[in-house]
Amino acid sequence: MSRTAPRLPWFGPGRFPLYLAPMARRTDIAFRQLCKEQGADVMVTEFVQSEALIRDNAKAWEMVDFTETQRPMGVQIFGATPASMARAAREVCDRVRPDFLDLNFGCPAHKVIEQNAGSGLLRCTPLLYDLVKAVKDAIPDVPLTAKMRLGWDQDSIVAVEVAGRLEQLGVEALAVHGRTKEQGYAGAADWAWIARVAAAVNIPVIGNGDLQDGAGALRRRDESGVSGVMIGRAALGNPWIFADVKAALEGRPSAVGAIGPRQRWEAMLRLAELTLEVHASRLGSRDVRWMLDRLLPLTQGLPGSRRIRDRLRYCLTLADLRRLGDEHLTELARDP
Ligand SMILES: Cc1cc2nc3c(=O)[nH]c(=O)nc-3n(C[C@H](O)[C@H](O)[C@H](O)COP(=O)(O)O)c2cc1C
Repeated sequence: MSRTAPRLPWFGPGRFPLYLAPMARRTDIAFRQLCKEQGADVMVTEFVQSEALIRDNAKAWEMVDFTETQRPMGVQIFGATPASMARAAREVCDRVRPDFLDLNFGCPAHKVIEQNAGSGLLRCTPLLYDLVKAVKDAIPDVPLTAKMRLGWDQDSIVAVEVAGRLEQLGVEALAVHGRTKEQGYAGAADWAWIARVAAAVNIPVIGNGDLQDGAGALRRRDESGVSGVMIGRAALGNPWIFADVKAALEGRPSAVGAIGPRQRWEAMLRLAELTLEVHASRLGSRDVRWMLDRLLPLTQGLPGSRRIRDRLRYCLTLADLRRLGDEHLTELARDP
C-alpha cells in the first residue's frame, strides 16, 4: 500500500520508488551515477561513521559527497553515541544539504557491532531510541529515515516493535532488510516479516533483500504492501535492473532486454572513468587495479567471462581497460 510522507515526496499515491541500497566501498558517487542513469529513484550514501565526520576526517566527508543530479539523496551515518550522532547529523545537513538523513541499524560487521552500532543496536533498543531522539532534535528541518534488519537473531526479532517506536519518534520512512544480524547474508530474506512491519506502521516501509529482477520486485510489491523497494547486490553486476523493474511495475516489456557485451564494456569503462574522476586526486594515482572489485561484477554474462576476469587483473590504466574491451568485442564480432 502506498503511504505518504509529506517531506519525502517520492512516496505517495501512484508512486513506488526504487532505492539503490547503500553498500560500503561499492555505491560511491561514481557507481551511483550509473544507477541513476538507469532509473534508480532514490539513493543513499554508504554508511559513514559519526565520529569520523566530527573529527573532520577527509575520507569520511568524501563519502557523503553527491552530485545534484543524484538527488533525492540521503546520507547514512552510524554510531552508538547519541551526542556524536546528533552532532554529525547536524554538520552533514549544514554542509551537504541531503534530502534526508538515514540511520544505520543494520550493519552486521564485527567492528561495528562491538561498538553497539549498526545492528548491535537491535539488542540494545533503549540506546537506539535515545539515539533517534537526539538526532531528531538536532535536525528538525531535515527528514529522518532509518534502515534496519529484523533483529539480532531468530529468537529476538524486534522489527515490528522498533518500527512502531521509530514512527512515534518521528522517523519518516524505514527500510527493512529481511534478515537478522546472525544471518549475515545467508539464507533468504524473509519478506513475510517485511510485510508485518509494513502493516504495523503508517510511514512508508521500503522492502529490501534478494531482489533480482522486475518480476520478483512486482511480486514483492503486491504481496508485502511495501511502499518502495531497495536493490543492493543485484545492481552491482546489473545497474540496468532499475530500468527492468520500472518497466515491470508499469506493466511494460523490459526496457533493457538482454544486456550485450558492448553495453557491459561501456558500463565498465564508464564506471572506471567516473571512479578515477572521483578518487584519483586523493589517491595520487590513475592506477585502475584497486577498483577491480567494482568492475568484476559487470563481467557477469560476458562470453568468456572467466578469461576476461583474469586479463582484467593485468590492466593498470584506463587505456589498458579500453584496449582489452576493444580486443574482446573484435573477437566476438569475428567469432560470436
Ligand atoms: C558490500 C556491501 C556493503 C554494504 N554496506 C551497507 C551500508 O553501508 N549501509 C547499509 O545500510 N547497508 C549496507 N549493506 C546492506 C545492503 O544495503 C542491503 O541491505 C543488503 O545487501 C541486502 O539487499 P540485497 O539482497 O538487494 O543485496 C551492504 C551490503 C553489501 C553486500
